[in-house]
Amino acid sequence: KTYLVLNGPNLNRLGLREPGVYGHATLTDLEQQLQVKAQELGCQLIFKQSNHEGQIIDWIHEYAEDVNGLIINPGAFTHYSYAIRDAIASVSYPTIEVHISNVHTREAFRHHSVTAPVTVGQIVGLGFKGYHLALIALVEGENES
Ligand code: DQA
Repeated sequence: KTYLVLNGPNLNRLGLREPGVYGHATLTDLEQQLQVKAQELGCQLIFKQSNHEGQIIDWIHEYAEDVNGLIINPGAFTHYSYAIRDAIASVSYPTIEVHISNVHTREAFRHHSVTAPVTVGQIVGLGFKGYHLALIALVEGENES
């Protein structure tokens, strides 16, 4: 099984960006940790990051028939991108939304996700562990179905 791991805007700045909120580990650290987890679980991962809404949408479409699920952190697009929401709704694979920080303890504009209603679930506030848990959920969900 293959899963797409898509990180949105500003997540290429992990480690440098607001370390008090997002920690000191980088996007490469995250992807390496997830790669180890994927090997343990016996699945493949495709990693992508973009700061551009259209690119994110294109990847969601491009892998529509090729992956078994999507783990997405849409960054700030979470809060207003109906276009990314529609892209997620347009594919048949399951999507799990992850946020590193606990968006509910932060500014009011972060409390609402326009993308979450078209995902199977959302994990917030658990740091990088959220991505690990999302992967476990996708892999185990596959086994159950
Ligand atoms: C984030 C939360 C968003 O509100 C923010 O815009 C991000 C990162 C998170 O992972 O906590 O870029 O998605």
